[in-house]
Amino acid sequence: MNLKKNLVFLGMMGSGKSSIGKLVSKKLNIKFIDIDNIIEDMMNMSISNIFKEKGEDYFRNLEEKVTLKNLKMNDTVIALGGGSFINEKIRKEILTNHLSFWLFWDDTILIKRIKGSKKRPLAVKSKDHEIKQLIKKRSKIYQKARFKINCNKLTKTEIVKNIINIYESN
Ligand code: S3P
Repeated sequence: MNLKKNLVFLGMMGSGKSSIGKLVSKKLNIKFIDIDNIIEDMMNMSISNIFKEKGEDYFRNLEEKVTLKNLKMNDTVIALGGGSFINEKIRKEILTNHLSFWLFWDDTILIKRIKGSKKRPLAVKSKDHEIKQLIKKRSKIYQKARFKINCNKLTKTEIVKNIINIYESN
């Protein structure tokens, strides 16, 4: 079998990295992994409890280790956590060796999806303007991804189709 690079999904919380990633992996009939889920299983704790009990620095360290380890796989769809690509080591590895897809949406859509989300320690208590600031700051880094998918006017099926087309021509 012809081994291809991994497809890595990145972007803000609520951008559909896991749901779109899963659909893409099904279509391509390849494995799907979600870094946050791997961390939760390893720790036997939810992400929000890890933040609460161990702190964000602890989570970021673990995120770096787990992400770099899992990027060693081949032919896998990988959904990152929203902050993962901000880490320089992770970003360099992804940009050098993998196919990266940034799923981007208008601020208002993202805010509606993540505001008050108990699963998301960075968004649960944030005000709209704080989430907006985070999106603005992170987007400068997310836009380094090799492929940028403007999801605003697309259905899920169209998003998946676009990604498969890109994958098949790369
Ligand atoms: C984070 C996003 C979360 C999770 C953690 C931190 C972030 O993942 O990794 O809460 O910094 O944006 P999702 O993007 O899957 O919500």
